[in-house]
Amino acid sequence: MLLKLDSLFKKKKSKNGEVKNDEKKDESQFKINFDAKKPMLADVSDQTKLDLRYGLILPYAYAHLYWDEVHGEVIYGIEEPNLDVKEKEILNTLEQGVQELIDISFINVDDKEVLIEYLEKNVKVLLKELGIVINRNSYLKLMYYLYRDFIGLNKIEPLMNDFYIEDIECNGVKTPVYLVHRKFGNIRTNIVYDDFDELTSFVEKLAQKCGKYISYANPIMDGRLPDSGARVNATYTEDISSRGPTFSIRMFTREAWSPVKLMSIGTVSAEVLAYLWIIVEHGTNILVVGGTGSGKTTIINVIASFIRPEARIVSIEDTKELRLIHENWLPSIARAGTGVGGENTGEITLFDLLKASFRQRPDYVIVGEIRGQEANVLFQGMASGHSGLATMHADDVKTVIKRLETAPINLSPSLVEILDVVCLVSHAKVKGQDVRKLRTVQEIISVKENGDSEVNVPFQWDAGRNVFMFKRESIVFKKIVTKRGVKMEELQREFETRRKLLNVLYKKNITEFEEVQRIISDYYKNKDAVLKRFLP
Ligand SMILES: Nc1ncnc2c1ncn2[C@@H]1O[C@H](COP(=O)(O)OP(=O)(O)OP(=O)(O)O)[C@@H](O)[C@H]1O
Ligand SMILES: [Mg+2]
Repeated sequence: MLLKLDSLFKKKKSKNGEVKNDEKKDESQFKINFDAKKPMLADVSDQTKLDLRYGLILPYAYAHLYWDEVHGEVIYGIEEPNLDVKEKEILNTLEQGVQELIDISFINVDDKEVLIEYLEKNVKVLLKELGIVINRNSYLKLMYYLYRDFIGLNKIEPLMNDFYIEDIECNGVKTPVYLVHRKFGNIRTNIVYDDFDELTSFVEKLAQKCGKYISYANPIMDGRLPDSGARVNATYTEDISSRGPTFSIRMFTREAWSPVKLMSIGTVSAEVLAYLWIIVEHGTNILVVGGTGSGKTTIINVIASFIRPEARIVSIEDTKELRLIHENWLPSIARAGTGVGGENTGEITLFDLLKASFRQRPDYVIVGEIRGQEANVLFQGMASGHSGLATMHADDVKTVIKRLETAPINLSPSLVEILDVVCLVSHAKVKGQDVRKLRTVQEIISVKENGDSEVNVPFQWDAGRNVFMFKRESIVFKKIVTKRGVKMEELQREFETRRKLLNVLYKKNITEFEEVQRIISDYYKNKDAVLKRFLP
């Protein structure tokens, strides 16, 4: 009685997007609006007046953000269809039935509409077999919950559809799930996992969706959800008395952020971008540092978007986050072992990948995040003439240099000096709003045995006045003059032109990633045409 997914596929293909006459659209079909647009949220100056509703899974689930008098904070409530006692009973029966009938998690199909069709056909078979008769309204509500729990991520599925969410955090059972909202910051949700087993099996489901494995023997999992691209960290525990398993999900913005987009949200200035563009063109080694979630990866992607379009780029990450349109880009992802038999069979670490990457003769190597021994390989590679970009977790520049010189990285001072520039990004408050700032760009002049360093600071964000200060004296420009034989006047002229160009793009509101990438690429290939177009 189980319906085969293949048959649906064949039908889809033969349909060519149209519904054949002999397959009239079923009136009671369950549908979700997957093309919902990002809702526009007005600014709210007084959070105690907040009362806002917007769609998540239309027309079934909504976000309701409101000020909660009792807790004195903003709450993010999820509103879903109400079920009466009878409907709940039927839902339970159907859930059991679906569970026995099909295992959607093993089906390797991304198209949610195909999955819904598959689920719905099976639910109809079940209803018939069980002799359950319900009205259309109840049927659609039940389908919503079945969809949410079998195709989606159960309770948190509505959150996965919120354009405004950055992070979702669950710190165990009996404690609310928190999220980071792009507009309202850290807020608490009305979602709580009350049951240890429920949370445990949910974390297992998350791992499975990421194609990973989590168990008591391998209690920590890093992965990425294939459909949304969201990054997932989860932990597992057998200790029932603790708060239990945890998970955090970093949502993936549908589109990478362009340099101009970063200008428009006040993270960087046109000057610092023009500077980064020039030094990247000339193969400078750059490290972006900052705290967790401060925007390091976003900045490194912006910096990488300035690399010459024809350059050979090799990137190495734990989970795929970088997005570039360079044709000669070879992205690679580290892979955890299966952990079967006590050994990490099949494990490919950042370290392995990085060693291999230098054999691919890259112009630029990008490492998502350096933590340990892979830093050594990166610096050796940079010392032998390849250019490198990487991020590292640290709160200030001095600490970075000290950490590079001490265990477990243990670089010699002369090797640390290979690094030309460190960019520091962090959260900041501007007029009460949480923003990210590229706080400082520092050029390394020299590094001593004891970990002290001498730096030049071409860019610094002045928090008091909220302006980006810059000075023209650049050690890296001087290096470029010496090593590459480019004239200093030429670099200064380029700095001016690119600064103006970026400002024009900003004024014209050209912020879309691919469009800006194409303009950068055209600038390399046919500068005159770009200048004619934007700086006539
Ligand atoms: N300049 C910015 N302004 C506002 N939001 C930003 C900015 N940069 C990044 N974000 C958002 O913050 C989140 C984290 O960004 P990102 O992944 O770049 O940080 P990270 O420092 O690399 O994080 P991690 O420490 O987890 O590696 C993302 O959702 C991203 O969209
Ligand atoms: Mg990162």
